[in-house]
Amino acid sequence: MMRLDKYLSEAGAASRRELKSIIRAGRVTVNGETVKSPEQKIGEDAVVKLDDRPVVLRGTVVLMLHKPAGYVTSTEDPRDRTVMELLPEEYRDLFPVGRLDKDTEGLLLLTNDGPLCHRLTSPRQQVEKEYFAETEGTVDASDVEAFAAGIVLRDGTRCLPAELRAGDGGCYVVVREGKYHQVRRMLASRGKPVTYLRRIREGELRLGTLEPGKWRHVTPEEMGNLL
Ligand code: URA
Repeated sequence: MMRLDKYLSEAGAASRRELKSIIRAGRVTVNGETVKSPEQKIGEDAVVKLDDRPVVLRGTVVLMLHKPAGYVTSTEDPRDRTVMELLPEEYRDLFPVGRLDKDTEGLLLLTNDGPLCHRLTSPRQQVEKEYFAETEGTVDASDVEAFAAGIVLRDGTRCLPAELRAGDGGCYVVVREGKYHQVRRMLASRGKPVTYLRRIREGELRLGTLEPGKWRHVTPEEMGNLL
């Protein structure tokens, strides 16, 4: 048994906020009867229709988005454009797994599966995240050593040991945690402020050739490798 509003929200019928008024307006039927109470409990096998169209529960959906700069990682924002605006209407019920700063680009996962989101962001899982960064000044061997030993941020926070590699036109950073503005603050603590940042990998999952602003489904097999 499940609440009617939860059923409709899990099926991606509309945003959580819109659902209550949609139900109260009498647009939803359960087994042929109009139901106006969002709290009404319904069985998993109930036939639910919105505006006479069947609404079916779908399973777990996981998408990979190439977040462009200028979008905030949030489902709603009073000022800024959100990453949700880059997805088709039917996926507006998903939520981001973790967070990229407004100015950061790159790989962002979105899902409708709360427990999965929790597992992927749990500090205990230590899923590797790899970034490409451009900085003022070039990273050198002493920076690489400092990253391997564990950076202490300017506010005294200690980071786990991380990998830093110099690359073509920038550097690559691999971290296993997700503190606020972590990569920017790690590099700033070495006197190398970040001018550009893109996440290119989470676990085995690579951004690859996905263009900025584009998204694709993550296959169950890719998910298995990620966890
Ligand atoms: N580290 C940052 O500083 N910003 C991000 O968006 C992600 C990691």
